[in-house]
Amino acid sequence: MRCWSGCDPVTLQLAIILPTLNERDNLAPLVARIESTLGANSWEAIIVDDNSDDGTADEARTLAQSDPRIRVIQRIGRRGLASAAIEGMCATAAPYVALMDADHQHDPALLTKMLEEVKSGETDIAVASRFADGASADGLASAQRERASTLANWLARKITGVELSDPMSGYFLLETRRVRDLAPKLSGIGFKILLDILATSSPAPRVKEFPLQFAKRRCGQSKLDRAVIFEFLVGLYERLFGKVIPTRFALFGTVGAVGVVVHFAIFSAAFYGAMVAFAVAQAIATFVAMSFNFWLNNWLTYRDQRLKGAGAILKGWLGFCATCAVGAFANVAVATLLEARGVHAVLAVGAGIIIGSVWNYALSSRFVWGR
Ligand code: GDD
Ligand code: MN
Repeated sequence: MRCWSGCDPVTLQLAIILPTLNERDNLAPLVARIESTLGANSWEAIIVDDNSDDGTADEARTLAQSDPRIRVIQRIGRRGLASAAIEGMCATAAPYVALMDADHQHDPALLTKMLEEVKSGETDIAVASRFADGASADGLASAQRERASTLANWLARKITGVELSDPMSGYFLLETRRVRDLAPKLSGIGFKILLDILATSSPAPRVKEFPLQFAKRRCGQSKLDRAVIFEFLVGLYERLFGKVIPTRFALFGTVGAVGVVVHFAIFSAAFYGAMVAFAVAQAIATFVAMSFNFWLNNWLTYRDQRLKGAGAILKGWLGFCATCAVGAFANVAVATLLEARGVHAVLAVGAGIIIGSVWNYALSSRFVWGR
């Protein structure tokens, strides 16, 4: 039983998890809106803040001091909507839990209906959908964002086989026990928390959608940036092909392929454009392509262990060039040997490329970006 100030004792029913990154001014009005929907008791709001620099956590603590329904988790050195959501969901004793954006794009008025539905036992997960009949996604600030969202939903449906109008929704409600059971299997990467829950649940959960009027953000800005979209695509790739060709190797190979294009472009410009000697043009192109590959791998393939600072970059760049030089030698040697043994020239070249790439990948991940 739970009783703060002389009220009738009420059992805690629902926790609302509010992940935040720079949402200071949105908090107080949001708590007021939640209260006007759910009444004074039986709920708590858990603000999971990733150490925002606008003082969101301080504001949350100020609110919590005079209102014990509010709780604060401040994470230091951690980032990510999905992992914040999981952490918050596992931190409550309430039997039901809802995840909601803290920027007022999600209308708290839906909480009552969603809670009733899940409590009835007819539905495992109640999802507020921006794309169900009767919903509106006007709050998706741009047409581009709307198209991206449609594409993400389509991809998500194809890959998980879950038929939902909005599998990327950040607003849903379910039994807390269900999240606790799944938590060790959830990836916690990016924004796709619902998708992860759906994809890891077995048997497939019964889902009901509630049309949502997706509002405009009250203040502040969206945090869904290119990095989040990239992580989403990486996640899909891992699900589909990750066991066959590891993501990092696939990225390394893609960067290598882009490097080949760069090589040809530079070579043509030097040889045909600037009329330099063939060997010189080839040397320039090789050097530029190798440096370009180093930069792109540092930025993309090894983004989680990126080399920073002039010294580290210079050392990494030299190491990468040395690795690639040996890789190129192995490439030529293998291809020549195979061709001499009667293997078709194209196959021999292909084998050379594979051997060279695996060598470059193995050595550079160990010695250039290795810890
Ligand atoms: N703790 C924490 N850490 N919170 C975060 C982080 C993070 O790294 N990134 C975002 N948030 C919080 C925001 O402060 C906000 O309360 C909520 O998560 C949603 O973030 P927004 O930045 O407002 O996302 P959006 O409106 O662009 O994206 C919407 O659509 C996505 C799919 O299209 C949201 O509804 C998402 O939940 C949804 O996945
Ligand atoms: Mn938002």
